[in-house]
Amino acid sequence: MLNESNVNSYGKSFPAIFDTAQGEILTDHHGRKYIDFFSGAGTLNYGHNHPKLKQEILSFLEYNHVVHCLDMDSSIKSRFLKTFDEVILQPRGLQYKVQFPGPTGTNAVEAAVKLARKVTGRRKIAAFTRSFHGMTATSLALSACCTENHKMNPSQDTIFFPFDGFLGEDTDTCTFFERMITASGSGIELPAAVILETVQGEGGINIAGNKWLQRLRNFTVEKGILLIVDDIQTGCGRTGRFFSFERAGIVPDMVLLSKSISGFGLPLSLILLKPELDIWKPGEHNGTFRSNNLALCTAIGALDFWRTNSLEKSILSNATLIADKLNRLLNESPLVIAVRGIGMMWGIEMESTAAAKGISSELFRKGLMIEVCGPEDTVLKILPPLTITPHYLEEGLNLIINAVLHYVPHSVEELKVLAV
Ligand SMILES: Cc1ncc(COP(=O)(O)O)c(C=O)c1O
Repeated sequence: MLNESNVNSYGKSFPAIFDTAQGEILTDHHGRKYIDFFSGAGTLNYGHNHPKLKQEILSFLEYNHVVHCLDMDSSIKSRFLKTFDEVILQPRGLQYKVQFPGPTGTNAVEAAVKLARKVTGRRKIAAFTRSFHGMTATSLALSACCTENHKMNPSQDTIFFPFDGFLGEDTDTCTFFERMITASGSGIELPAAVILETVQGEGGINIAGNKWLQRLRNFTVEKGILLIVDDIQTGCGRTGRFFSFERAGIVPDMVLLSKSISGFGLPLSLILLKPELDIWKPGEHNGTFRSNNLALCTAIGALDFWRTNSLEKSILSNATLIADKLNRLLNESPLVIAVRGIGMMWGIEMESTAAAKGISSELFRKGLMIEVCGPEDTVLKILPPLTITPHYLEEGLNLIINAVLHYVPHSVEELKVLAV
């Protein structure tokens, strides 16, 4: 748009001027409708402008509740902390303190790493191949997906290890991790923490197995390495349960939440930390926009969706539908290398960047918003709102199947353009 920096990217992938949005449908200024299989990169798990959450904001403002008060106490913050404990932590037997870093995901990563270093007195952080943790200096240094960017933000304090499956299904990367950390002469310093996404989102929908996660947890406990789970994209139900690590029965030392925690697309970020780690001095990590009160207001409303297991059940039945529909592509399209996913987070790995980008563009022209991911943008990423209606879920999946089955690259020139 006029005068906007060239750094804008989604505006280029989805070239429309969006005007209104409701549930799983966005409408542009010409009145054209798009089914949302993107969900603000995982921020809109409950869809756009959810009526219940919208009402929470309207009444919050109506009564002039305090919108901004830095990290001073407020009635909305106290309600949020109480509700989060009651609805999410207690039923799962989890005991965490809650830190409000700055409002975006990367703020949580930065603060968690800083705390891990303070607690352990060590500097190095272990991260994984194809990881993505954000775009500020420390987060970027931990993001294997962004190696080009590392030239601007060197990552000498990061040690990258192969994620589960990175070296092929038969190679056990956990043994490699353990050996590199423990064996003398490996050249690796004991890290303060290991940070990971249990399902790598930007990295191409790579799923860590339960046993791998359990071994990593046991080993990190044994060695006094803090385990930080970055649930910024995978949390709030995206993979089926509220937290992505629940399926493995592990308890991380710190959990990072952002994106869908506000439930409404408002910036909010949390670090859940084991109480004994809370050695911060007041103000040692601060920022103007913490505990964003409007976002806390919708976050409380969104927690209501987790009071029963009905959302969880519908995510699981949607997961079965998505798997059934997409798996046929593996047999029917030579362009499809793999289909993988869990809950409502799925990826179709295509044989080339041009095919993935070409299909994503074609789908946008047909009224479906779907992004590409993976270090080389070869994976079509399916991330509909968790609350999508069965009608639009099926319609979106059918559009994808048709687009993949009928995709024909038009010319070498077009391939070149799409590959940029
Ligand atoms: C797993 C993960 N961590 C961290 C971030 C960074 O969050 P933000 O863009 O809000 O800084 C993202 C963003 O996509 C993410 O997917």
